[in-house]
Amino acid sequence: MPHSSRKKKPIPQKRLQVTDDHGWTHVTTTRHARRAVHQNNANANANNTNNTDANTDNGNEAEIKLPPAEPPRGLTLTELTEQFAFHRARWESSATYAAVRRELENHQHHTAPADITSIICIGLGSPSGFLRGGWVDRRSVSMYQLAALATVSDFFEVNVCAQDPVFNTLDKQLLETLSIRAVDHPAAFELVNESSLLFCPGAEKSHLERLLPRSPALVFGGPLESTDSIVLDTFLQGVGSLKLPVFEELEHAFWNMRLYWRINE
Ligand SMILES: C[S@@+](CC[C@H](N)C(=O)[O-])C[C@H]1O[C@@H](n2cnc3c(N)ncnc32)[C@H](O)[C@@H]1O
Repeated sequence: MPHSSRKKKPIPQKRLQVTDDHGWTHVTTTRHARRAVHQNNANANANNTNNTDANTDNGNEAEIKLPPAEPPRGLTLTELTEQFAFHRARWESSATYAAVRRELENHQHHTAPADITSIICIGLGSPSGFLRGGWVDRRSVSMYQLAALATVSDFFEVNVCAQDPVFNTLDKQLLETLSIRAVDHPAAFELVNESSLLFCPGAEKSHLERLLPRSPALVFGGPLESTDSIVLDTFLQGVGSLKLPVFEELEHAFWNMRLYWRINE
């Protein structure tokens, strides 16, 4: 058979961004991976992943709906639960978790409000799926943050709900196994009050500006400092905080984050 002289058209390959354990984001095909961006700052991460600032209108309800994250084909809840157990074990053996736990235990003796009646999680991301049409992989970050949420929830034993438009069915099922109720926008915003623990690692500034005036008793997230936001600066005037020790397993999952507690006058 004679070979055709016509050149075959290359088949376009879907590319993914994968963030490795050192905070590097790789653009990858099935054969190649190249270093693309070094993000050594939570804000930088936030801006390059799901930042919806362009999609939001600073608190009005007219948010553009983000599509649910795309899980790998064939992923089952059993497999996802195993992945979660793996991440939780690593989180629980970390110095970061030890510091959070110690602070929560001390917190019970602070003048700060001891009676947390709800935990509200905003902007966790998807522990199971790829974002932005399959280009961005932040699953490990969301898994570790979910592990942190689960341990904090176990500590307080109160109602927990989580809101993120990128949650897919598997994410919601995983949350359910942890007794975390997934809610739709804008329900979670309305639920935050002075007896809430607001769990918001990597949350959008526009969301924080909407949430923090509700004076949650505890906030896990940030950093809230140096944001050029009067609303955030006002919140900071009435709180104490603990900077979390570096999370060695995946630094940028909790980069520069803090536990903040409201100080009652
Ligand atoms: C910057 S990302 C942070 C994701 C993850 N926590 C991290 O640290 O990588 C902000 C998150 O807010 C979510 N988000 C956007 N609109 C939201 C809304 N109305 N309510 C809750 N989460 C929202 C996005 O889908 C995204 O997961």
